[in-house]
Amino acid sequence: MTELNRFGIAMEKSLLADLDELAERRGANRSEVVRDLVRAEIARTRAQQGVPAVGSLIFVYDHHVRDLTERLNDLQHELGERVLCSLHIHLDHHNCMEVVVLRGNSREMQVESERLLATRGVVHGALHVVPEDLSGHGHGGHKHAKAKGER
Ligand code: NI
Repeated sequence: MTELNRFGIAMEKSLLADLDELAERRGANRSEVVRDLVRAEIARTRAQQGVPAVGSLIFVYDHHVRDLTERLNDLQHELGERVLCSLHIHLDHHNCMEVVVLRGNSREMQVESERLLATRGVVHGALHVVPEDLSGHGHGGHKHAKAKGER
């Protein structure tokens, strides 16, 4: 089990109350919630720096917009092997949803995704990036180890 170190955190009463409410909703304790927030922020900051990463790009578009399907297809072909797989769902008469799983440099992934999402006719989209190197906060980071006396 990973050794945990204790340290004090000072925060406003109201913020602490919000933290406790969040923890209760998640069925977790304060320490677990704070650890998850720190891991998420570290991952987010690393992703901005250009590190090896995997990502999921999700977007919705109207396939009746002229040439849009072809343009989106071209953009994905340009990404080549960086596209691990993709999923296409026909949502309704007009709209299609695509989920594209990417692997590569996180910064480039963001730039390429923004280019695709900026294409006219793409009505909704978002990229979620996960850095591949999660060492330090551990692949076993979700063991939810408890320090002695932790609430
Ligand atoms: Ni479709």
